Amino acid sequence: MATTKIVQVASGTPLVNSHLQENYEVLALWEQADPQAYLAEHGKGVRGLVTTAGHGLKNEWLDSLPDLGVVSSFGVGYDTIDATELKKRGIQLGNTPDVLNACVADLAVCLLLGSARQLVRGDRYVREGRWPTEGAFPLAQSVSGKNVGIVGLGGIGLEVARRLSGFDCEIRYHNRKARADVSYGYEASLTALAEWADYLVLTCVGGPATYHLINREVLLALGGKGTVVNVSRGTVIDEQAMIALLQQDKLGFAALDVFEHEPEVPQLLREHERVTLMPHAASATVETRLKMSQRVIDNLDRFFDTGEVISRVV
Ligand code: DGY
Repeated sequence: MATTKIVQVASGTPLVNSHLQENYEVLALWEQADPQAYLAEHGKGVRGLVTTAGHGLKNEWLDSLPDLGVVSSFGVGYDTIDATELKKRGIQLGNTPDVLNACVADLAVCLLLGSARQLVRGDRYVREGRWPTEGAFPLAQSVSGKNVGIVGLGGIGLEVARRLSGFDCEIRYHNRKARADVSYGYEASLTALAEWADYLVLTCVGGPATYHLINREVLLALGGKGTVVNVSRGTVIDEQAMIALLQQDKLGFAALDVFEHEPEVPQLLREHERVTLMPHAASATVETRLKMSQRVIDNLDRFFDTGEVISRVV
């Protein structure tokens, strides 16, 4: 029996790689110097494509993939994939939501706590052989009982809210529309939410709909008392405005897992004392990456078994 032909855009986890190798005829796109030319030659008959949230896929490939029925992407975000174009062509898109909610929320809370309590700065200070006997180590910010604004109360945002409620924080959120199923306070105005919040946690989707949603005005409203925590996408914040406000002491702290032009992280962020940085690793635990891998596999296999992926975006 002929095996199903698929394209793999980037090398995946060992679980994904071995499953694909054992069950499909895999065209490894990352090994090709000119992916577009390669697909023009070999794309006919390809029925599936496996990619990641980071790598996505290019629209110009699609004309060379006339038989493509499904894209299975590793990650919940799909801002690097044109879902509207896939839908137009009748191609299903599956991603890996839910299985990473708790893990990403853990890192959001970790960034918030670490930044408030100056974990990185304190660690560096002690390693340098210093001790605050002369009051040289600056006082931190409390978390307990503070105001937390969540931008994008979806699966991840809800997990953040649940965790920080345990720290006696008051939670309010901003979505395009209020949710009927939660009792957290809703704030239609992002600026009003930022003004009220001590900590503003971003867990919304990326892409054009949220591009620079957190602009200078919102960051100014958060102000010198405030911390912005981003586990969403770098493009959600106007990064240059954020840097300028940090430099002018008009924004308190930034704790960031994502950046506007990854993998580039501006020098001014890298050297700023009130900034905590992580390398886009919110879902990067052994357990969660296994679950994500399994969902990538299941989305693909299920499509070929039943015609429908499990976690369907379009
Ligand atoms: C996601 O799942 O979208 C993560 O950000 C990994 O890219």
